[in-house]
Amino acid sequence: MTQSFDLLIRNATIIDGTGAPRFAGDIGVRGDRIARVGDLSGQHGTEEIDLAGAIAAPGFIDAHTHDDRFMLSSPDMTPKVSQGVTTVIGGNCGVSLAPMPRPIPNPVTPPLNLLDDEGQWFRFRTFRSYLDALRGAPAATNCAMLVGHSTLRVATMDDLTQPASPAEIEAMRELVVEAMGAGAIGVSSGLFYEPAIAAPTEEVIQICQPLKAFNGLYCTHMRDEANGVMDSLEESFRIGLEVGVPVVISHHKLSERANHGRSRETLALIEERMATQPIGLDCYPYTAGSTVLSEHRAVSASRVIVSWSKALPQYAGRDLDAIAATMGVSQAEAIERLSPAGAIYFKMDEDDVQRILRFPPTMIGSDGLPHDAAPHPRLWGTFPRVLGHYSRELGLFPLETAVHKMTGLTAETFGLRDRGVLKEGAYADLTLFDANTIDEVATYAAPIAPARGIDTVIVNGSIVWREGRSSGARPGRVLGRDRP
Ligand code: ZN
Ligand code: CU
Repeated sequence: MTQSFDLLIRNATIIDGTGAPRFAGDIGVRGDRIARVGDLSGQHGTEEIDLAGAIAAPGFIDAHTHDDRFMLSSPDMTPKVSQGVTTVIGGNCGVSLAPMPRPIPNPVTPPLNLLDDEGQWFRFRTFRSYLDALRGAPAATNCAMLVGHSTLRVATMDDLTQPASPAEIEAMRELVVEAMGAGAIGVSSGLFYEPAIAAPTEEVIQICQPLKAFNGLYCTHMRDEANGVMDSLEESFRIGLEVGVPVVISHHKLSERANHGRSRETLALIEERMATQPIGLDCYPYTAGSTVLSEHRAVSASRVIVSWSKALPQYAGRDLDAIAATMGVSQAEAIERLSPAGAIYFKMDEDDVQRILRFPPTMIGSDGLPHDAAPHPRLWGTFPRVLGHYSRELGLFPLETAVHKMTGLTAETFGLRDRGVLKEGAYADLTLFDANTIDEVATYAAPIAPARGIDTVIVNGSIVWREGRSSGARPGRVLGRDRP
């Protein structure tokens, strides 16, 4: 019997996202779903792609993003779709664009300014109105969104240097209930950052209390990723246990030279606790991080590159040392003149990065900052770098494992039903790529560059990226979290 498909992908080497070995086959897409996988040589499609043996994989899920505003202001999502990403998890590190029930301070409280340093995008008084805006003007990618604890603090507290009062905790909790009812998948925290440093563990537990009833999860940029990392892991696990929800340790890393090598300790503890509570973690494949520019962060880095500056935008992309020398001032004075600004900090060790990437439960997340003038290359390069540099060139793990870490594992961790696995009945989120050439092109010196080796990217059955350019289609949806 002849069947017809909207899209027929012929002669694929299929890596299905479960970690299973690759196999040859054709893929028939009808509407937004994968209708058939197998030998479809007698069939035809309205549109056909012959892969001649290249890879077809589930679309990549970016486990850690700051794309809350980017989906609205740049809905083609070029840095993401160009590297094969079809779904982004947003609202991370305690920073979400919504809700903001009262005017945001001017200047915007860092690190909320990573999403918008002008403040006009912080205009969604409720989480529902934000998700409605995403649904009304969809982006090219799907998303699943967290509500940020620091955003909640800025929205409800007048003195961020204090623990929240009982009334403020109640106000934040109500905002969590509203967000979860509207379709958020959980709460993120950024206890490392100034707006949340004063929050005791109990405050986070109380604010997250509604999560269990909504089947939410808790994601955290931990209080300390340096000397105090073991205590911070314990704090994160305790919050997960007391609230009764899964914990995701965001962008796991070991900062500062004294802590290099300690991923042996942290991964051993994470593995041990995984036996008794649900825990996930993600990682970006670089030895430099990126966030707001500040002196205390700069002093412990071996190199600092300025990624944006509101006051002196011409310095974006240049080393802080060189900027200070040009100005003829101290590093501290240069930071003062550049701020508000962002930076890339070299603080991690390659062995830790590789050990964390190799750890079987680790997902891939970019942590890309899409509004920076000279962004960290992770924004454009994370996924191809894992597939090319780390899997193909260094042999850190087989390609099937690399794909699993950015698809099936991530969908399972975040509860994204019928995503992350290439099989009949699943959504047709697909990335077609050449395993022999895929790699990042973006570098620290030239960070804005689409990856190589990505052929076609499909979201909900629609082609969003093909032959090096966006199609203009914006089929992205707001995803919820499935019950386990
Ligand atoms: Zn973070
Ligand atoms: Cu982040």
